[in-house]
Amino acid sequence: EVHNDSGSKRVVVTKSLPGDRWLQYLVNADCRVEVCKHPDIILSNATIKQLLGTKCDGVIGQLTEDWGAELFEALRQAGGKAYSNYAVGYNNVKVEEATKRGIPVGNTPGVLTETTAELAAALTLAAARRVVEADVFMRAGHYKGWLPTLFVGQLLQNKTVGIIGAGRIGAAYARMMVEGHKMNLVYYDPYPNKQLEEYIRLYGELLRHRGEPPVAVRRVETMEEVLQEADVVSLHCNLDASTRHLINSKRLAMMKKDAVLVNAARGPCIDEAALVAHLKANPDFRCGLDVFEDEPAMKPGLADCPNAVIVPHIASASMWTRSGMATLAAANVAGVLSGYPVWNKVDI
Ligand code: DGY
Repeated sequence: EVHNDSGSKRVVVTKSLPGDRWLQYLVNADCRVEVCKHPDIILSNATIKQLLGTKCDGVIGQLTEDWGAELFEALRQAGGKAYSNYAVGYNNVKVEEATKRGIPVGNTPGVLTETTAELAAALTLAAARRVVEADVFMRAGHYKGWLPTLFVGQLLQNKTVGIIGAGRIGAAYARMMVEGHKMNLVYYDPYPNKQLEEYIRLYGELLRHRGEPPVAVRRVETMEEVLQEADVVSLHCNLDASTRHLINSKRLAMMKKDAVLVNAARGPCIDEAALVAHLKANPDFRCGLDVFEDEPAMKPGLADCPNAVIVPHIASASMWTRSGMATLAAANVAGVLSGYPVWNKVDI
C-alpha cells in the first residue's frame, strides 16, 4: 500500500500500523510511504531485502524481524539513513551493525509504560485468583454449585511483590500493586529508583496516618533475595546476555511454593522448559506469561499447565499505546530524514 506517491524519500513500513497520525509525520517530511501487506506474519530477511529494493531512505520495522548485519547492509546499500523499531524493546536489533553503517536507531518508549504494567497486573491477578482456569471450567459446563474449596487461590493484599528491573515499566507495575493491593515491595535493580521509593514511602505514611498497616519498599543486593521473599515476582528487565535464563530451575526452586511469577518482558529471560517442569511439580505455583522463549511457539507441556495464564505478547496492545508507538516510530524516521537527530534514540 503506497501513500504520498510523489514523496521524494522512500520509507518502508514492514507491517500495517494502527491510527493515522503517524502517516502524517512521514508525509509532512516528503516521504513516499510503502506499507507492506505480505501475508507472512513474520517476514524473512529475504522478503525484507526485497521490500528495501535499491532505494530506501528509512524503515519502520517490527520486533519479530532480525535487524542485524544482513538487513542493515541491505538498507545501507539502498541509501538508508534511518531505522525505527516499532517497540520499546530492541533485542531484535544489533544496534552496533546499524551504527557502523551510519544508520541511527530509534524505539518507542514512554507510551507503553502504563499499558504494559496494566497487563502485567492483569496477569498477576488472573494467575493468583485462577481466573482463566475458572473461566474454562464455566464454559465447559462443570459448575454445579458453590463450594468452599472451589478455585481457591492467593490473596495479594498486604503480601510482598518483587520486581526484577525498576525502570519505567517495573516502577509503574510496582505502584499499581503497592497502591492497589497494599503490597510491600522488594526490588532488584543495579540502580536504585529513588522516585519509586519516595512514592511508596509517602503512601506508607498515608496508610500509617489512617491507622492501616503501612507498606514498605526495599532494594536488595541480589535477585535471590527477591525470589525468596516475594509472593509475586514480575520481570521488567531488558533481554541481553546477562538476563537470558535469569529464571532457571535453581532460581525457581528458591521461590515460595505458592508464588506467582509474571513475565511481560521478554520470553528468553525465563528457561521455559524449567518453568514447565516447575509448574507440573508445584500445582500451587502460578505464572502469567505474555512472552515466550521461542515465540510464537511455546515449550512442550506449557499449554497443559492449568496454573499458567498465557497470552500472545499483548502487553502494549491498547489502541492509545499502539497508535502512540506508531507516531513515535514515524517521528523517529521523519526526523532523521529531515536532518534532525533521531527523536528516541535507543540507549546503547
Ligand atoms: C515492546 O515494545 O518492546 C513490546 O514488547 C511490544 O510493544
